[in-house]
Formats: sequence, C-alpha cells, structure tokens
Amino acid sequence: MKKPIGVIDSGVGGLTVVHELMRQLPKEPLIYLGDTERCPYGPRTEEEVKQFTWEMVHFLLKKNIKMLVIACNTATAFAINDLHEKLDIPVIGVIKPGARAAIKSTENDYIGIIGTEGTIRSEAYNDALRQIKSEIEVLSLACPAFAPMVEKGLLEGPEARRVVEKSLVPISKHDKMDTLILGCTHYPLLKDTIQEVVGEDIKVISSSEETARETSTTLDIHQIADDDDQSPLHQFYATGDLEIFIDITQRIFKDSQFEVLTIKHAD
Ligand code: SIN
Repeated sequence: MKKPIGVIDSGVGGLTVVHELMRQLPKEPLIYLGDTERCPYGPRTEEEVKQFTWEMVHFLLKKNIKMLVIACNTATAFAINDLHEKLDIPVIGVIKPGARAAIKSTENDYIGIIGTEGTIRSEAYNDALRQIKSEIEVLSLACPAFAPMVEKGLLEGPEARRVVEKSLVPISKHDKMDTLILGCTHYPLLKDTIQEVVGEDIKVISSSEETARETSTTLDIHQIADDDDQSPLHQFYATGDLEIFIDITQRIFKDSQFEVLTIKHAD
C-alpha cells in the first residue's frame, strides 16, 4: 500500500523512533512532524497537549497517512484514547511498547521510569506496567531539564553529564531497580550519558524497538504494509527553527535518503 506512516512528536526526540522504524521497516515511507516550536509538551496541561496533538494529526491526515505512530510519551499519555476513538486509521503510542520491553528485561520486578512531568503525572507507565504484571514495583521521576537540553542539541559532554547526574540523584542510588525506562522520546539521545550515570548493572530501555515491532504487526494485521522494492523517500517536518532540527536529523540518519521541509504551525 503506497501510503506513508505518520509519526508525530513534540520535537526531535521522536526521530529515535523513526530511526528504528526505518531499520525494521525499510520499505515503508514515513512522514515525521516534530512540533519543535512548542516543545516541550511535558510541562503543559492535558488540554494543551491534546489540542497540539490533534493539530499535528490533522496536518498528517492531509498527507494521506495510512497509520499513526505517536512517538511522544506525553502526547501518548494524554491523547491516545481520544485518537483511538476518533480516527479510522490504526494508531499506536510508545508507552505500552516501552512497558512491555521493561517487563521482558526486569529480573526482580523493580522498574524505574524517567519522563516529563506530564507523563509521570499521568501514571500511564505505571498503569501499562501493572496491566501486564500487577506485582511490579515502580519508581518514577520527572526530569524536566532533559527534553529542552536535547532540543538545543546538547547530547553529550560535561554539561549534559552534570544535568543528567543532578536530575537522576533521587533514583540513581536505588539498590533494587534493575531496569530503567526512558519514558520520553528525547532521552534515547542521552542514553550513553544516562547509562554512565546509573551504572552498567541497570538495563536502560528505550521503547523505540518495541514500538517499531508493534508498528510492523499492526501493518500486517490491517494488511496495509508496503511491498514496493524501491527505497522510500521520507519526509521530515518541523514547526520551529530548522537549524538544530536539520543538524540532529543528519546526525541520526547519516545514510538514509530524506528531505527536510518546514511548515507553519500545523492546522
Ligand atoms: C516533551 O515534549 O516534553 C518530551 C517528549 C516526550 O514526552 O516524549
């Protein structure tokens, strides 16, 4: 089926999901929209996040997408039920896949979650984890400094390390947690620094791989997978300044064919 998969995020973080989608589904054309102008979504109200998410969805529906992937945890936490109810294309978010990956990883049922204030406040991960396994112990922590740092392109080095270290103090010395979910799509871009700070004994989980797997299964179930042999041309859109967006996109997708386009606020 020659229609693209739409991927939305509050900014650049969802590109980590796109990267994994390209790896697992190399024939599928993707259209990405990052709301870089209004990022971060984490501190915003539920109503605002829902409104912005719908604006992005309407933009992508005009591009004739066959399926929607919500690569933003905050948008997934607040808007996925509404989107499931109202859209007639398949929709998947990143929270259930992330929870599944963490349950597969933990050996002692102690899981940590770091995310935006909105995602942590929503308790969407706690619910998703306990739906899979009710006896899971969950430690959650909001890290409001991380997404804005990533949006500025600060992904490594002493300053990034200092911010990560300071933010993770409440959980980094916990002696039982064996698995940590990166509950924000920006955080995989800081994964090396986060791993260094929490130590090698803790498995750091990003939901991208599991989300790409779920996308693949969903395409099969709905019989809408693309079987064209040509490599697809992907499109990336951002609502804000393109300079850092292009820089991060190029760092992540060195070997892929892509176009970077700009748009005004989606409506
Ligand atoms: C944010 O917009 O604050 C971060 C994105 C996310 O929650 O995954």
